[in-house]
Amino acid sequence: MHQPPIPHLASADPEIGRLVEAEAERQHRKIRLIPSENYVSAAVLEATGTVLTNKYSEGYPGRRYYEGQQVIDPVERLAVQRAKDLFGVDHANVQPYSGSPANLAVYLAFCQPGDTVMGMALPMGGHLTHGWSVSATGKWFRAVRYGVRRDTGRVDMDEVRDLALAERPRIIFCGGTAIPRTIDFPAFAEIAREVGAVLVADIAHIAGLIAGGAHPSPVGHAQVISTTTHKTLRGPRGAMLMSDAEHASALDKAVFPGLQGGPHNHTTAAIAVALREAASEDFRTYAHNVVANARALAEALVERGYDLVSGGTDNHLILVDLTNRGIGGKPAAKALDRAGIELNYNTVPFDTRKPFDPSGIRLGTPAITTRGLGVEQMPTLAGWIDEAIQAADRGDDAVLDRIADEVAELLAGYPMPGWA
Ligand SMILES: Cc1ncc(COP(=O)(O)O)c(C=O)c1O
Repeated sequence: MHQPPIPHLASADPEIGRLVEAEAERQHRKIRLIPSENYVSAAVLEATGTVLTNKYSEGYPGRRYYEGQQVIDPVERLAVQRAKDLFGVDHANVQPYSGSPANLAVYLAFCQPGDTVMGMALPMGGHLTHGWSVSATGKWFRAVRYGVRRDTGRVDMDEVRDLALAERPRIIFCGGTAIPRTIDFPAFAEIAREVGAVLVADIAHIAGLIAGGAHPSPVGHAQVISTTTHKTLRGPRGAMLMSDAEHASALDKAVFPGLQGGPHNHTTAAIAVALREAASEDFRTYAHNVVANARALAEALVERGYDLVSGGTDNHLILVDLTNRGIGGKPAAKALDRAGIELNYNTVPFDTRKPFDPSGIRLGTPAITTRGLGVEQMPTLAGWIDEAIQAADRGDDAVLDRIADEVAELLAGYPMPGWA
């Protein structure tokens, strides 16, 4: 049963009620390896389902455009203070609706349309909002893009510097969505300083690892930090912008009134809950276990002959180039899904295939670590992945179904937060 229980939803709208239960059940029996996903705690779930959703509160605590903020102001102040304490920043804005609007607010704060901006190319591991051509950020600004080195699969800091010196961007984004290695914030900061750019660290993927001390922090290097709250940080779907004191006011004005209206107060409360959880000793252990599991899984895949971009991982994420296995990322991901192992197909750097049918798969350990799986299970998991990919190549659905049963049997011993 869903937790908190959903009796009113189930009786008022049985179709949606059944679908919610079905999704909970699906999340319970699958090994969820999409690196941007997680399981939030029952407390975070409860906070997202509260009456705080009924309230409008455009503005910021103490400066609102609507009356009746006696409760909402302290909720938002708590969330802001917890973000500042957890990450050690001067300023935090917890209102962005999600990661993409948070990043758009950064452009609005520091750029004019047509300005030169710089970020990692999408096929190299960057995010759409770092200036990729189909995104508003690539249409409204003159985006220049860096990538990874062909020989190492790691960010090419020489290219970053050369490009920055030649193009003089107003902002430089570091971080991304498919980067398996530690981000060198001091090196980016030096380049940004040299060219007078604002350095923006997009830590959406690794925020929980940073909070838990399992990845270096960008604080003191990047003037602006953007993050989602729903990935390794294990909060509700939302985002935060953090900064030094100098850049605070421009960011606040860009979020409201520049880009958004009323903040989603139920989400703000859930972010506050997640930040409190992330400040605990248990969460530090969690963050380190995420990395240990990813490393163990990467090693087990390499032992089975898989080609990992950059050869391995430093964080929660693994990018596998399937070219040497003779199967595309998409058919592999579809077969794995049938086998109860959920991940996503992904381009790999210098991919020769199309983005909708690329050469790679992307996987990560935040969700399975929340379920309680440990390094001892990673060789079994790598074995299932390997067997399923081979079965996909032969079109052997019986093997995929057998693996799905074995996966469900294993996971039955690992409780899922929010599902009783
Ligand atoms: C690095 C990075 N930034 C921004 C985003 C955008 O977040 P959202 O999907 O919440 O808009 C993502 C999402 O995957 C991301 O990986």
